[in-house]
Amino acid sequence: MSTHAVTGPPISAKGLEKSYKDLHVLRGVDFEVERGSVFALLGSNGAGKTTVVKILATLLKADAGTARVNGFDVAAQAGDVRESISLTGQFAAVDEILTGRENLVLVGRLRHLPSPGAVADDLLARFSLTGAAGRRVATYSGGMRRRLDIAMSLIGDPPVIFLDEPTTGLDPQARIEVWETVRGLASNGTTVLLTTQYLEEAEQLAERIAILHRGRILVNGTLAELKKQFPPARVEYVEKQPALEEIFLSLTGDDDKHAAGTGTGTGPSAAAPARKEHG
Ligand SMILES: Nc1ncnc2c1ncn2[C@@H]1O[C@H](COP(=O)(O)OP(=O)(O)O)[C@@H](O)[C@H]1O
Ligand SMILES: [Mg+2]
Repeated sequence: MSTHAVTGPPISAKGLEKSYKDLHVLRGVDFEVERGSVFALLGSNGAGKTTVVKILATLLKADAGTARVNGFDVAAQAGDVRESISLTGQFAAVDEILTGRENLVLVGRLRHLPSPGAVADDLLARFSLTGAAGRRVATYSGGMRRRLDIAMSLIGDPPVIFLDEPTTGLDPQARIEVWETVRGLASNGTTVLLTTQYLEEAEQLAERIAILHRGRILVNGTLAELKKQFPPARVEYVEKQPALEEIFLSLTGDDDKHAAGTGTGTGPSAAAPARKEHG
């Protein structure tokens, strides 16, 4: 199958630029994601994360730059890219009236799978939803819905998965459930690009973290590499490593408080765990 005959990184972006009228959202975004890894694109509300994901998923055209997904050019080979990916957005796409199993079977049928029932049962088991399989989704918790949503995106075994803010709006317990699900994805070779405004989420899940701010990737590395680049502040306790929160805030600066968008406290500093230890 052509979608598996791939060399090079499963996701690469070079010099991506995008404006919405006068608003220059992406100003040259470059990164690569390794096969079978979880890569976090971390940024405040409005940083341009969804814009990047939409370009990679062929839903939006970049003004400049190139991107390849699963070896295919997003502009010239959009059809091949679409067959290689799944995209799960912030708002769950599950049908509340149907049961969990019915949702999965429906997607399997839409994708013309030979045995959608068997695929559904396998996914229900993998996502710990077997017990709830016959219940209407309307009765599910937030975490169960999101797990079902991610399960639906796996039908057809796409090698590349985009999760756009998979835990925004979930309570802490549901967030942990989704984290466990995402951790399981990369282990079978699936490449996961996840966007988040939660520092802790990037810290917990991603092998590599890229911080998107003012249209550019400010840093990109493993958590250990980021920590090395930003040695502990001198007033900290001697053994203390900088938390990702401190790295993020030192890069994105004060303006972040004001640029956080809605002003409802959904910015990274509000979302990060309370671990201020300085005086
Ligand atoms: N279709 C659009 N038209 C105009 N502005 C947009 C559109 N989509 C997004 N924007 C703006 O572009 C910026 C980046 O948006 P987005 O990529 O959704 O950021 P994020 O996903 O990081 O929150 C925001 O300021 C947003 O308001
Ligand atoms: Mg977004």
